[in-house]
Amino acid sequence: MTARVVSADDSASIQEAARIVRHGGLVAFPTETVYGLGADAFNAHAVARIFEVKARPSFDPLIVHLAHASELPRVALVQDPRADRLAERFWPGPLTLVLPRTRDLPEIVTSGLETVGVRVPAHPAARALIRAAATPVAAPSANPFGYVSPTTAGHVADLLGDKVELVLDGGPCRVGVESTIVSLVDEPPVLLRPGGVPREELEKALGTSLGIARAAERPSAPGQMVRHYATRTPLGLLPGPAGPVPEGNRRIGLLAFRSLPEAVQGYAAVEVLAPDGELTTAAASLFAALRRLDALGLDLILAEPCPQSGLGHAIMDRLRRAAERERT
Ligand code: TXA
Ligand code: MG
Repeated sequence: MTARVVSADDSASIQEAARIVRHGGLVAFPTETVYGLGADAFNAHAVARIFEVKARPSFDPLIVHLAHASELPRVALVQDPRADRLAERFWPGPLTLVLPRTRDLPEIVTSGLETVGVRVPAHPAARALIRAAATPVAAPSANPFGYVSPTTAGHVADLLGDKVELVLDGGPCRVGVESTIVSLVDEPPVLLRPGGVPREELEKALGTSLGIARAAERPSAPGQMVRHYATRTPLGLLPGPAGPVPEGNRRIGLLAFRSLPEAVQGYAAVEVLAPDGELTTAAASLFAALRRLDALGLDLILAEPCPQSGLGHAIMDRLRRAAERERT
């Protein structure tokens, strides 16, 4: 069975998707970061199906999506001026706040944690869906666990097609990397995952530096798992700009950051993330470019590093995780 993909611009489609969510089904929907696989956050059964469909370990908590910041008290305990400040400045948008959770949110959503990750997405279709469903929507990225996140409806249909009731097509995701996750359970707040809102902007809004979570401090924050966002093709992260293709008879693809220097002829395939040199452009093209290279049956993908500022942190984080080989 193939996926039913419908336009997110059509209000009848939004209504249908909302009906499916209200009745405990799963809907894939666009956000400004990546596509999400959504279910009613208050329906433990429906949320359990998300874990099943993604083959996601049950200790990996989901992000709850709201149509508006005013709905925050439904899922989180909020008496935190830092939350107000960040919500006002960055919502709707690619920022997830980790806050103490309310009692009535099913435990499966947060994998038994006392905290909940929550955000208000900026994509109009996402907000229309959540508003029409009249319930917070729990949604991970709509990819099989560990694989590259989807940034088009086609990506979702390719990998999860027959497992979701409906895919809302809202076009390619504008941001292209997942939301930044900040824990407000800590003082100072801790950056759990770099993402669509650059750390520098968060620190400016908060007037303080963010703590950086070390692996040992976040056993239950698994977008943080070392090998994640991975292609099936082995991926190597280059220490600097690409040089000539390594010798040998392997078919090697290049994920280039900017333009293509003369020296890099000989690759079996090349994807340039940002012809304009902009990190926002690179983030928006990252996952789709990885998928295109991954589809070619290459022996190896080599990725150029990008500048480590703004969205560059999120891009490098995803590339490092994709490059990490399974440890035995
Ligand atoms: O941009 C995004 O955040 C996308 C779109 C769909 O909103 N969602 C997304 O979800 O990336 P997912 O499930 O692929 O990654 C969510 C990450 C997981 O690594 C999870 O561990 C972390 O958020 N997370 C969720 N709740 C948490 C909590 N209470 N404490 C710590 N980490 C949490
Ligand atoms: Mg994910």
